Amino acid sequence: MKHLPPRWHPDHPAIYDIGKSYAVNAAEGPFFQGQIPKRPHPNRWIDFLGFKVRSPIGVPAGPLLNSRWISLAGKLGYDLPVYKTIRSFAHPGHALPNMVYVETDGPRAAHQIGEPPSDLSHLTVTNSFGMPSKSPDFLLEDIGRAQESLGEGQLLIVSVVGTPNHGVSFAEDFVRAAMIAKEAGAKVIEANFSCPNVGKAEGCLYMSPESVGVFASALVKAIRPVPLILKVGLFDNPEQMKQVFLAAARAGARAVCGINSVSMQVQPPLGEGRASSGVCGAAIRPQAVQFIKEAVELNQRERLGLTLMGCGGIVEPGHFDEFLTAGATIAMVATGMMWDPYLALRWHGSHP
Ligand SMILES: Cc1cc2nc3c(=O)[nH]c(=O)nc-3n(C[C@H](O)[C@H](O)[C@H](O)COP(=O)(O)O)c2cc1C
Repeated sequence: MKHLPPRWHPDHPAIYDIGKSYAVNAAEGPFFQGQIPKRPHPNRWIDFLGFKVRSPIGVPAGPLLNSRWISLAGKLGYDLPVYKTIRSFAHPGHALPNMVYVETDGPRAAHQIGEPPSDLSHLTVTNSFGMPSKSPDFLLEDIGRAQESLGEGQLLIVSVVGTPNHGVSFAEDFVRAAMIAKEAGAKVIEANFSCPNVGKAEGCLYMSPESVGVFASALVKAIRPVPLILKVGLFDNPEQMKQVFLAAARAGARAVCGINSVSMQVQPPLGEGRASSGVCGAAIRPQAVQFIKEAVELNQRERLGLTLMGCGGIVEPGHFDEFLTAGATIAMVATGMMWDPYLALRWHGSHP
């Protein structure tokens, strides 16, 4: 407990500069000017989809833009880093602003605030990137570099998404993106069925048991023997969640990760055509922990055998435990680690 790394905020700026474009953050970030403290012992080895991993702590798809970001995350004790969602073709994503501080007004509405909170326990943001992606050529090399940058007991997951109307069917394009990840050597692939900042067809896939069945089956078949994780968001009701989980398990998906950022009406909106955007960080933690509790119960009751990965609202090391105690195999932090990259090391140090 003695030499835990200090809190990062407010003495240091976030490692992702929200005033700069996604392209600049990708080319020049992460903006981390700090020590890489020695990792505290011992390790908390777990089995994750047949891989031995040093701890159950990771970063979900989003903050880790490329191999340089993955490499830093690995050194800072995030043992399951996810490579930000890739498409089957180069895509610029949305213009600035991409991330703005907000306060929520109930479960589905939020308003912008100008400054970050002084205390990270209130760190809530809306993000809207439109899932930018590099070209397949770049990705084939960079995913390999990301994998090589990790240490023993660390596992890279690559997140993929399909794009409707891109020359082939939506499902076929999903498979195309997944095959880039597979060819690049990904050992585990996650399908993003739940981005709240893109067209409805892409963002709400996870809510339809039929679509989940069709898309997950095609992906499982194509990437076999690489295991497939499905990334989902909040469900409308328990029956929808049950039918989707049944469809996922039947299709051969091995894990479910939730929740994605929560779609909310943000005032003022981030831009034309962006009346709602995904909200993440502290305010969504109660919904995220509740999601995991319900997912664990459903998984046991229906004997689905899915591995459950929790994220949403972690901004303190102790919050990882809320997900792990609720029954998640893995707990991951996106927003929180951008403003406090030492969260994982402080978790490792406080779990002797
Ligand atoms: C900057 C940023 C970018 C994100 N991009 C993606 C993405 O490309 N794919 C995805 O599945 N989720 C994405 N997410 C959602 C996160 O993986 C996560 O589900 C959500 O932010 C909730 O976790 P948090 O409260 O710890 O941020 C992104 C989140 C952030 C903050």
